[in-house]
Amino acid sequence: MTEAELYTLYKGVYVPSHLHPPQSLKYFEDFTFRPDDIVIATYPKSGTTWMQEIVPLIMSGGDPASVETLPNWDRVPWLEEHRACVLNLEQRPSPRLFSTHFHYRMMPASFFEVKPKVIYIMRNPKDVFTSSFHYYGITSFLVQPGPQSEFLEKFLNGKVMFGSWFDHVKGWLDADNNKRIMYICYEEMAMDLKGSVGRIAQFLEKPLSAEVIEKIADRCLFKNMKKNNMSNYSVVPQEFMDQTKSEFLRKGVAGDWKNQLTAAEVEYFDRFYKDKMRDVKYEFVWDLD
Ligand code: A3P
Repeated sequence: MTEAELYTLYKGVYVPSHLHPPQSLKYFEDFTFRPDDIVIATYPKSGTTWMQEIVPLIMSGGDPASVETLPNWDRVPWLEEHRACVLNLEQRPSPRLFSTHFHYRMMPASFFEVKPKVIYIMRNPKDVFTSSFHYYGITSFLVQPGPQSEFLEKFLNGKVMFGSWFDHVKGWLDADNNKRIMYICYEEMAMDLKGSVGRIAQFLEKPLSAEVIEKIADRCLFKNMKKNNMSNYSVVPQEFMDQTKSEFLRKGVAGDWKNQLTAAEVEYFDRFYKDKMRDVKYEFVWDLD
């Protein structure tokens, strides 16, 4: 099926229509934040699910009850997704945990007034591309990626769900309430998960002992999260997500793009990246080469 059949063009970016019917988008537009809400913001395939495991564990002081009983999409729901309307989020006790794939400029009015805390995760776009290529291929609600070169063209030009990776990252990095935003790279978490959990806990003003931090980091290791049925998408019916083709928690490493992109594609990607990111000062942790 085509983009026109599967996606809705919302504020200039494609969103999968199946997951984001008009009433869900309206719900997000009208949503009222609280100052102690915590929002995980990501471009898809950058480590959302990982953070949806880490943050609840930090906030519960390491108690695994919520990550063992609630699927990640109910535990830290996407505010723009169809589930948000039925979860009674207004009744949830503070601090509430949410996710969003929206660009900064797409956030609703209340977000800019209330300024809740945000954790924004970024990942090497070549790995985001690689992860997306496999992920699109297993879902029935996204346009099939087709040949890799075609998908690369779409990815670089933002003709994929949630639009351009470059615009997403630049928009959130330029946010004017950035004292309330913690920026972290997937690669930092991969290199030093314990240290990253500690930094996230500090940002969330949740003092934890070294022992609890260690326990949380251990639970959030790729091999352990893969076993958690509330986080590995195994409860999603195969007709929506066929994990016999490729698992949602697929490889969980930094640098898999080296196994995916041809030399010519790498060169093309690098040229595109340099042009799009030339004014960005942020020192990303990833290694583009
Ligand atoms: P890969 O496809 O490269 O394996 P998102 O949750 O934003 O959709 O991102 C999914 C990507 O994050 C997948 O990447 C997935 O394997 C990876 N991921 C999820 N949990 C992880 C963990 N605990 N450690 C490392 N990577 C993880």
